Amino acid sequence: MPHARLSLDPSFVVAPVSRQTFGTFVEHLGRCVYGGIHDPGHPTADEDGFRGDVLAFVRELGISTVRYPGGNFVSGYRWEDGIGPVDQRPARRDLAWHSTEPNTVGLDEFVRWARKARVEPMMAVNLGTRGVQDAVDLLDYANGTGGSFHSDLRKRNGAEDPYDITFWCLGNEMDGPWQIGHKTAREYGRLAAETARAMRMMDDRLTLVACGSSGSAIETFGTWEREVLEESYDEVDLISAHGYYWEENGDLASFLASAVEMDHFIEDVVASVDHVRAAKKRSKRINISFDEWNVWYLNGDASQAPKNDWPVAPTLLEDQYSVADAVVVGSLLISLLKHSDRVASASLAQLVNVIAPIMTETGGRSWRQTTFHPFAQASRFAVGDVLRVELTAPVHETAKYGDVPGVDAVATHDPETGEVAVFAVNRSLTEPVTIAIDTRAFGESRLVEATQLSNPDPYLTVTVDTADSVAPLANPDTSWDGTVLSVVLPPVSWNVVRLARA
Ligand code: AHR
Repeated sequence: MPHARLSLDPSFVVAPVSRQTFGTFVEHLGRCVYGGIHDPGHPTADEDGFRGDVLAFVRELGISTVRYPGGNFVSGYRWEDGIGPVDQRPARRDLAWHSTEPNTVGLDEFVRWARKARVEPMMAVNLGTRGVQDAVDLLDYANGTGGSFHSDLRKRNGAEDPYDITFWCLGNEMDGPWQIGHKTAREYGRLAAETARAMRMMDDRLTLVACGSSGSAIETFGTWEREVLEESYDEVDLISAHGYYWEENGDLASFLASAVEMDHFIEDVVASVDHVRAAKKRSKRINISFDEWNVWYLNGDASQAPKNDWPVAPTLLEDQYSVADAVVVGSLLISLLKHSDRVASASLAQLVNVIAPIMTETGGRSWRQTTFHPFAQASRFAVGDVLRVELTAPVHETAKYGDVPGVDAVATHDPETGEVAVFAVNRSLTEPVTIAIDTRAFGESRLVEATQLSNPDPYLTVTVDTADSVAPLANPDTSWDGTVLSVVLPPVSWNVVRLARA
């Protein structure tokens, strides 16, 4: 059996774990909102129409922030359509997803839901069809203390206290030709800078995210970041990155190595951003908000928007995830954690029904997808500092990325409790790998648990009836000599090993 070796040391700190790494995303898209988080006819719905079963899953998932209301949707969105008496709100055509938006849920409802879900809202403003004034009006509606038209309007709509939303995205994927109101980097950079300046005049507590590239493959990647930040470096705090990964032509080996692409993407964004920092001679660093990432079968039938009608909450992007998809999601989480010194926040896209860890039947049952588990475990057990691990692992060849290590891993250490968590994937299609984890630097330790998520069939997906058949299970193949812990990682697996002070 091939062997890997991992050395841990509490002083190899990359950065403190940022809770905001564990964000997700709710867009007015398909059945994410309607039939997903909001379903007034559902037996578990509360007085606001929010599903209790979904809220329970959301809390279990352990989310920090939720980005809202889009996505491509936000670039044509009029936020004021979604406030005030629900029966007087207009229905609108949503050009991004060729759907009809009934506006039953808007900002006030979303904030109520976020409080119940115990998550922080991360709002996006429309810089596609709108601009500075609307962003400022929305901000005043959300955070104003009263005495202005928009803050008083919020009060009249039932929310006396300001929402104090401090995390804002300046538009969405403005580099993409598919985006409503798509712009050149210079056009967008100027608009982002001016919007940021005006928003900060209204509220000086904000963290503002400029749109970076919608993916590493887009032609403008690199130049886009440079030009946008040449215009807006001093005005913004973070730059976004979006990355979706999908299986190509049944090439599972390459697919399992998708995190190699995410690693490179993050490092390249950092290089582009730091170039502007150097050229402008600034000490301030701009970090990354990786605010859309996931596995997405973009070309599959589930992702094709309706063409000939304008349905409300159509079934869209409802990918069914496999065991291999869960392993890739786990490895993408490892990549994000490994780069915690520059990735300040991230959002799994999305939360419910739409390329999501949580699925529902409208009016009916709900269940966890395979991808729910790595996210929930990482969110729960990644506490304290992210540690750089010294890893040696067997290498195998992939068509897309060349030679890649068969095992990838990261660890966290909580200096207060002494707890250590190791997150590891085995990307081999066929070979179990024994990983020897050297824990000497922590002194006397004990194994709390070792779990693995795998299946002899990596393509296995779950349905509402079989959802419990894929979940992390205790790993029986561990041995421990007090200083080195050996764990057998099955092929195509996501693994968590937890240690505590003895
Ligand atoms: O998450 C689905 C879509 O992917 C979002 O609306 C958009 O921002 C991205 O292209």
